[in-house]
Amino acid sequence: MTTPNHPLRVPVQQGPVYADLDLADLGAAEGRVSALVVHESSFGNTRTIAMAVAEGVAAALEGDASVALAAANRVEPEMTQSVRMLLVGAPTHAFALPRQSTREDAVRQGATGPVMSGVREWIGTLPVRSRDAMAATFDTRVELMRHLPGSAATSALKQLGRHGYRTVEHESFYVTGTPGPLLPGEEERAYAWGRRVATEMRAALAARTGR
Ligand SMILES: Cc1cc2nc3c(=O)[nH]c(=O)nc-3n(C[C@H](O)[C@H](O)[C@H](O)COP(=O)(O)O)c2cc1C
Repeated sequence: MTTPNHPLRVPVQQGPVYADLDLADLGAAEGRVSALVVHESSFGNTRTIAMAVAEGVAAALEGDASVALAAANRVEPEMTQSVRMLLVGAPTHAFALPRQSTREDAVRQGATGPVMSGVREWIGTLPVRSRDAMAATFDTRVELMRHLPGSAATSALKQLGRHGYRTVEHESFYVTGTPGPLLPGEEERAYAWGRRVATEMRAALAARTGR
């Protein structure tokens, strides 16, 4: 994989981005975590994008708040209570969020990601918010299918809206084929997207709370 051009400011796990926390780690960070990037990935491309998004979010928040990055099947839903900004990403499967059958399909094509549970199931178990938290979503999808409607990100954003989140926007990042790789420049675009969306979310939250 090529080295991303966006500045990876800190080695993940040591700086403001807490990468791939297990439940105990996230518990320890609870109260401090105000931005959370949650992902699902079968072949690893969405995970790469999620890391770049998290770095962008951390850059936008400039140390004001901590940013956590974790796979959906490793975050207990109750631990999102202290989160004000939620960014969720998944690969597009069959024009929507993956489900168990499509994940199994991916594994038959060589994927190593989890099969039983991911973003779809995780959002379904989230406590309902009272518009006090904001959400944005992203996905990866095949470039040749760019013009077809329906994506994991649009499905996830709708689902989060039904769970009481203030939904901001969704974005797609592109792979050349089902297993990847990402198109050149997509990590940099994800970093810039995370940075911009977090800046907008912070301004909106500050306007609402007066700080
Ligand atoms: C079962 C299955 C269904 C898919 N359906 C779509 C689709 O509807 N549209 C699309 O653009 N890509 C589709 N893809 C390609 C995935 O979006 C691609 O594998 C994914 O972006 C790679 O991300 P990952 O490495 O995080 O798994 C599909 C892939 C699989 C395995």
